Amino acid sequence: MTWLVITLCFLGYFAAHMADISVQNQNIMDYELLRLLIKLRQEEFYDTLLVYGEDCEFHSLIRSLDVAVVLVTDSMNFDWNFSRLTLILSCGPDLEKGGPNGTTFKLQRNRRLVLLNGDIQPSNMCNIYTQKDIYNIAFVKENFAKSNVIYSCRYFQDPNIEDVHLLEARPIFTEQFQNMMGNAIRIVPDLLPPRAMLYQDASDGETKMIGYVANLITNFAQKVNATLQLHILETSTSITEISRMAKDDELDMGVTLEASLYSPNLETASYPYLLTSYCLMVQVPAKLPYNLVYAIIVDPLVLGIIFLLFCLLSVLLVYSQKMSWQDLSLANIVLNDKSLRGLLGQSFPFPLNASKKLRLIFTILCFASILLNTMYEAYLQSFFTNPPSEPHIRSFKDIGKLRHKTAITAIEANVLISTNNTQFLEIPKKHLCIYESWRESLALRDAFNLSYNYFVTEDRWSSYAEQQKLFKETLFYYSNDLCFSRMIFFSIPLRRHLPYRHLFDEHMMRQQEFGLVNYWKGHSFFDMVRLGLTTLEDLSQPKSFNPSLLMEDISWIMKLYLVAISLSVFCFLSEVGWEKWKRWRDTRN
Ligand SMILES: *[C@@H]1O[C@H](CO)[C@@H](O)[C@H](O)[C@H]1NC(C)=O
Ligand SMILES: *[C@@H]1O[C@H](CO)[C@@H](O)[C@H](O)[C@H]1NC(C)=O
Ligand SMILES: *[C@@H]1O[C@H](CO)[C@@H](O)[C@H](O)[C@H]1NC(C)=O
Ligand SMILES: *[C@@H]1O[C@H](CO)[C@@H](O)[C@H](O)[C@H]1NC(C)=O
Ligand SMILES: *[C@@H]1O[C@H](CO)[C@@H](O)[C@H](O)[C@H]1NC(C)=O
Repeated sequence: MTWLVITLCFLGYFAAHMADISVQNQNIMDYELLRLLIKLRQEEFYDTLLVYGEDCEFHSLIRSLDVAVVLVTDSMNFDWNFSRLTLILSCGPDLEKGGPNGTTFKLQRNRRLVLLNGDIQPSNMCNIYTQKDIYNIAFVKENFAKSNVIYSCRYFQDPNIEDVHLLEARPIFTEQFQNMMGNAIRIVPDLLPPRAMLYQDASDGETKMIGYVANLITNFAQKVNATLQLHILETSTSITEISRMAKDDELDMGVTLEASLYSPNLETASYPYLLTSYCLMVQVPAKLPYNLVYAIIVDPLVLGIIFLLFCLLSVLLVYSQKMSWQDLSLANIVLNDKSLRGLLGQSFPFPLNASKKLRLIFTILCFASILLNTMYEAYLQSFFTNPPSEPHIRSFKDIGKLRHKTAITAIEANVLISTNNTQFLEIPKKHLCIYESWRESLALRDAFNLSYNYFVTEDRWSSYAEQQKLFKETLFYYSNDLCFSRMIFFSIPLRRHLPYRHLFDEHMMRQQEFGLVNYWKGHSFFDMVRLGLTTLEDLSQPKSFNPSLLMEDISWIMKLYLVAISLSVFCFLSEVGWEKWKRWRDTRN
């Protein structure tokens, strides 16, 4: 009877706190365990229970619980398709048998409560679990009903076990990796500026890292009170080697960026750190030579319109002089000297008693003349100060028109080919220069070598753009029209079972959110200069003087002029000769 009363009392209590757990008949052990489960649910919500192992107290308990339950007796080697908000209840200390893809590792971070029977030492069990990279563990012994003590593993503390009483306010599970107490994180930097660069700190002589990826990781280590164990590869470190090390659990974090193009699999990579595009870095088209400027402004269409205007004005002039069409002839239209001189801005005779209509037409003529002359003057002068450049290439179809080949590393080319990148396959082979050594190819790009165009990600381009601001002439531009992918995610390679992956992902997003990443990226060029990895030198090799317009540039105009003069002299002479000959013929007759 007393039990029934107590049960009813607590039923009210549970109903108030948690409507979905109902209490039915249970013995004391069940009742205490139930209280524990409620406490755990208040600490952190769960909606699924995974009960593992042979029949034990947990099995009788679950009948009283109104949460989804998954029962597993044999092996955890299956795909976990259920909720991630899961609490694992394990009957007995025998470790779950799980393969690499097993539920054990999918639920690595989830809290587990293990029921120990006999006199097994919980602290030994903690060590065994941590060897399997499982840290969120607590144990209860068979005498839990009496003792009410939970043994919770604390990986970074000595002793590594903490006894928590059920009625205490202390949490049973804590986020242990929040303070790693100086434990090591193994990292391997790729030493690719400006992502990660090593330097000796002048004050304490230690080797430190800087760069927008290195900063992220050093800040993380500071945040979780860990130390960084730097492992520098002797051979030329490549990103693929670091990815391999992450896959083989040889490191905790790689200080590099792995593009989503290279590995679609996010098991060994963090949440995306950067979103960027991958395009061509193209040389700024050359300026037109000065001797072609004149040819550019003389557009046939505009010339045609001017000629039409000229004819129209001539017709009007011819008509309004006498208000009749009697003087209209081809010669009067095409060789109208008033109209011609007027359009060219020259003076011409104005009839003394001109009619209103004639004056109106002269006004139109003068106005057209001012417009035309100032327009061409302005055109010519501005183009002589700053000649227009050759047209920009806007699509992959026209890529053959680029003056230089495009340099690419063999690694990148293989990835683009294997992913069937349509834009890349559109580029003719003869237009590519594939470099087996990626360091060589990057060195050419870093030196702004003008023999090639390059492939670059927008994030790397930002520091090139910063560097170019120092140049007298801009050498390259980032072509938003010639992109291979507009959405590339860059992630940090991580060990598959890194237990603090969630903390790292959260840290990364915070740094983004506060704008630190953009700040680091913007400063990366100056960091490179400070470490002597690049110089403030102007790589554009500006010419000491710009060639100006020379006599020979306008020689063809002179030649045309000479031909025209000769032609008119010839016409004049032949006309004179013709008259002479006619007179001589007349006198002879
Ligand atoms: C999980 O889902 C996959 C694919 O959806 C399926 O093949 C597998 O059998 C499921 N596993 C379980 C335990 O239901
Ligand atoms: C684990 O998954 C990978 C791909 O997801 C598969 O190739 C491998 O065979 C799986 N291993 C086991 C033991 O199931
Ligand atoms: C950080 O770790 C060191 C051990 O390396 C420890 O002495 C120190 O107390 C820790 N700091 C904090 C804030 O816990
Ligand atoms: C690429 O295209 C080839 C043939 O066009 C096809 O066999 C292959 O599966 C494609 N690869 C990818 C990754 O789409
Ligand atoms: C640019 O690269 C080409 C080919 O590798 C080389 O011949 C040339 O000397 C380089 N130019 C400069 C300015 O370094």
